Amino acid sequence: MDENWYFDEEKNSSEKEVVGYAAVVLSKEFFEEGVRNILIQTGVSVLIFLVVSMLTIFLIIQKITEPLRKLILAIRKREGKTEHPSDLKVLTETYSSMVDDLERSFQTITELNEGLEEKVKCRTLQLTKANNKLYQRQEKLKRSNTHLLEALRRLKETQEQLIQKEKLAAMGQLVAGVAHELNNTVNFISGALPSLHRSLDEMKEIFARYAKFEKARPIKEKLFYGDLFFTIDQLVGNIEEGATRTTRIVRDLKIFSRQDVEKIIPVDVHTVIDSTVNYVDKQLLKNVTIRRDYGSLPLVHCLPGRMGQVFLNIINNGIEAMDGTGQLTIKTEHRNEYVHIIFSDTGCGIHAHDMPNIFDPFFTNKEVGQGTGLGLGISYSIIRQHGGDIKVESNVGNGSVFKIIFPVSPIEVSEDKMLSGEAF
Ligand SMILES: Nc1ncnc2c1ncn2[C@@H]1O[C@H](COP(=O)(O)OP(=O)(O)OP(=O)(O)O)[C@@H](O)[C@H]1O
Ligand SMILES: [Mg+2]
Repeated sequence: MDENWYFDEEKNSSEKEVVGYAAVVLSKEFFEEGVRNILIQTGVSVLIFLVVSMLTIFLIIQKITEPLRKLILAIRKREGKTEHPSDLKVLTETYSSMVDDLERSFQTITELNEGLEEKVKCRTLQLTKANNKLYQRQEKLKRSNTHLLEALRRLKETQEQLIQKEKLAAMGQLVAGVAHELNNTVNFISGALPSLHRSLDEMKEIFARYAKFEKARPIKEKLFYGDLFFTIDQLVGNIEEGATRTTRIVRDLKIFSRQDVEKIIPVDVHTVIDSTVNYVDKQLLKNVTIRRDYGSLPLVHCLPGRMGQVFLNIINNGIEAMDGTGQLTIKTEHRNEYVHIIFSDTGCGIHAHDMPNIFDPFFTNKEVGQGTGLGLGISYSIIRQHGGDIKVESNVGNGSVFKIIFPVSPIEVSEDKMLSGEAF
């Protein structure tokens, strides 16, 4: 039992006086048991707390280390080791092996990278080379395409020339036969004409003597004596003119069918052109001017008469196309082994649909009696005979250009060259 005295606090110690007395009685066993219980409860609580804490910590550690363990397990599995990793040593081993692996991988990647760069360089070089090759091939193809187009153009030209040649050859045979027959007939007429003239003169004389007699009067009146011989002379004149024209046609036909050949000699083309121009019918010229633009030409080997005939045909055609007014330009130039003689007129031009036919014998747009249609056919035949060619360009309403391309040394008719188009 504990006892204690209690004083009035507001009074000083000298004045203190006992105001009361209280006694608190406590059982000691009871107190000690209480303390023991408190201690036991506290110990149990601490124990439970420790267990729960450790469990929680264990679980947390388990949770944190689970992925790590799984990772180690996976690595071990990859390495072919199946035992469960139990301690840190495994982790260290695995870690260092991973580091080694990584180093090796980096090494390999670096090597691969270097190799790759090398390969890329090599491949780029190969691709550039291949690209260059392709470009060269493309250029080659372009060139061969151009060549092919050129060859096609020449082929077409050659085909046209062959067709023309065939046409002329076929016509040539026919014309040769006709010319022969016509020649016989015209010779017959021409041969008879002088004796006809003689006989007519004799008849005139007899008639003149007889007419003086009175007996002859009725016959004189019946026969219109005054006009009789005039009419007969006119008719004979017509026959003569017809015979002359027919003879000329026969001569042309003979040239066309190549029956009439003269001698090939070196000729100054300009002289032939000049004498041909002089030969042109002045009445036809009217207001047509002829301009000459001559280049320097070598002598060419040809049949001069035939060449003159070609020039005359082409000049006459040009003048006729201008219908009395215009300009005909004759230009010459020397190119490689050929001379070019170019006739440009300012005439009516040639329609595209007529163009394929103008060299055909007997093709004409002129009125009956005005043209035979043989001029260009003969000209073409003569030029081909010499190994040359004639090219035509025309513009309806503006005029035409006839270009004669003539070899300086012809006759070994350079047919191959002509066909390949190489010559021009
Ligand atoms: N320079 C030209 N301008 C316009 N047409 C032309 C020219 N040259 C030729 N021709 C045309 O070509 C046709 C044929 O010409 P070609 O010389 O063969 O015969 P032609 O002149 O009619 O007769 P020929 O020459 O026998 O008197 C002519 O009728 C004409 O229609
Ligand atoms: Mg003509």
